[in-house]
Amino acid sequence: MSNYHIKNLEEYFQVYRKSVREPVAFWEEIAEEHFVWQKRWTEVLSWDFTKPEIAWFKGAKLNITENCIDRHLTNRANKTAILFEPNNPEESAQHITYKQLHEQVCKFANVLKSKGIRKGDRVCIYLPMIPELAISVLACARIGAIHSVVFAGFSATALATRINDSECKMVVTSDGAFRGNKTIDLKGIVDEALENCPCVASVLVAKRIDSAVNIKKDRDLWLQPLLDAASSMCPAEIMDAEDPLFILYTSGSTGRPKGMVHTTAGYMVYTAYTFKNVFQYRENDVYWCTADIGWITGHSYILYGPLANGATSVLFEGVPTYPDYGRFWEIVEKHAVTQFYTAPTAIRAIAKESLRFVENHELSSLKILGTVGEPINEEAWHWYNDNIGKKKCPIVDTWWQTETGGILISPIPFSTPTIPTFATLPLPGIQPCLMDENGKEISGKQVDGRLCIKFPWPSMARTIWGDHQRYKDTYFSTFPNNYFTGDGALRDSTGYYRITGRVDDVIIVSGHNLGTAPIEDAINEHPAVAESAVVGFPHDVKGNALYGYVILKEVGEQRNHENLRKEINQIITEHIGPIAKLEKIQFTNGLPKTRSGKIMRRILRKIAGGETESLGDTSTLLNPEVVQEIIENSI
Ligand code: WTA
Repeated sequence: MSNYHIKNLEEYFQVYRKSVREPVAFWEEIAEEHFVWQKRWTEVLSWDFTKPEIAWFKGAKLNITENCIDRHLTNRANKTAILFEPNNPEESAQHITYKQLHEQVCKFANVLKSKGIRKGDRVCIYLPMIPELAISVLACARIGAIHSVVFAGFSATALATRINDSECKMVVTSDGAFRGNKTIDLKGIVDEALENCPCVASVLVAKRIDSAVNIKKDRDLWLQPLLDAASSMCPAEIMDAEDPLFILYTSGSTGRPKGMVHTTAGYMVYTAYTFKNVFQYRENDVYWCTADIGWITGHSYILYGPLANGATSVLFEGVPTYPDYGRFWEIVEKHAVTQFYTAPTAIRAIAKESLRFVENHELSSLKILGTVGEPINEEAWHWYNDNIGKKKCPIVDTWWQTETGGILISPIPFSTPTIPTFATLPLPGIQPCLMDENGKEISGKQVDGRLCIKFPWPSMARTIWGDHQRYKDTYFSTFPNNYFTGDGALRDSTGYYRITGRVDDVIIVSGHNLGTAPIEDAINEHPAVAESAVVGFPHDVKGNALYGYVILKEVGEQRNHENLRKEINQIITEHIGPIAKLEKIQFTNGLPKTRSGKIMRRILRKIAGGETESLGDTSTLLNPEVVQEIIENSI
């Protein structure tokens, strides 16, 4: 039996039991046998959830790129590492072998160094899904710079907030991006953001769309000539196990985005281990995860996890709807993809269209299907299973978070029997539990509660950049001595987990986490707005959509409401990005509040979802009369 690669259910249970009984021995064996270390650790795990302080493989020295690239040069030099599929299907795909990846990462790393980037410096990467994105991430890791990738759909304001929060010295971007039949002026967005970012000294610009861009003297540099001139040899910086590898921002229910800090060794071990098992990767497979590298799924399961296993990983620049709804399946056929990993929202969007987009493609290469990012509803699950997997491919419903670094609850294909909507069982090393509202653990089966994790795992985030107190308050204070996920879950009679959704003020729209507070802050910037509250409501493609309740100042009352709605969404687009636009905006004279002045979002959520029958007792509100008004005017 190998701990590293689970092949059947019995083995899963054995491995799982060992991982709980002897976590140190369990992870030590995996770390020892499957990775390259410059120096061995002195301690596998030390932890204290009350502080919280977590360290894995303390004392070890390594570089993650040696594990993801260099060590494959012996046997896989000419194997494709990254298979780039461009936005435009007419443009040819690019096969970047491990050898080429090594050269390109080294060149890029040398460019970073020549611009003064050193170990520990932060580099913001704001790029579309092109090879330069993967290469720049790995180049940072090569020299020990901390990458902070910002999804290229975020606005200038959101980008500036993230750059300033971690004081990035450099931004890597491109002239623009192709997205379906549109182009996006990324460099223009960066220029606008940098008006407010004094920490940034240089900007590297990749050429993608060949647009005319503004090049600011002494700050902006075209990337390609620098790469052409750079050496393709760059020794890997030797990192401590707990040196930060990257920062990735995620929305919180309140305030600023949280810069989750992931460190080197534990993250590497866990993403590699889970990739191998959850996708049962075999040597000649072609694996495709459709996420953007701007999100954690792309970090862990397009780049680090697959590359640590010497896999071929597809990098797709485009969107599922361009040139038509068959694009995913055209790519699966073209590259004979074996594992396909996507988000429920994409499945629902495609399932709404004609089946002919699926039927004219040969999908027999597929072995395993995956989903991530939000609960998958039963209908979408069956559509995926019937039409894409032809009932032969297990579906892995993988539950995890930016904070967890890797997948925590998921079936292991061909081992764990799947049930639609259930993420099923914890992966080895993961000890979930359910808590009631009073902080007591709920034991037994057929129960639901707040999902926590009792014991550390290697890839958990170690802190929030610059704000350890917030890390403690958000994740370790609600249920002392436990990591609190912010999700609700139920456990059925067989011990399977089903994630029921967020229990805080984070709303997942099309698989993107959005905090209500920053959206409300943006709305309140409008001069005609007095106050606002944003909630989610069920949406058949996006999973959830946003519903805004807005109280206008007197000046606003006089204005055309349709225009106001447009202006409010415009402000949200400027502050956050188009993903946070409100689907519905209701103007109201009041918001239901508790006697202490807190908005009762529970009531607003029910009204937005059309569940006005079950509002519960509203008589304790400060202003119960507004509830009726809101119901009557709801959209
Ligand atoms: C939700 C994405 C149900 C959940 C990797 C979590 C899911 C949040 C699933 C994290 C799933 C993710 N079933 N819900 N399989 N996967 N979620 O940080 O609410 O972008 O807390 O990480 O997405 O989103 P994030």
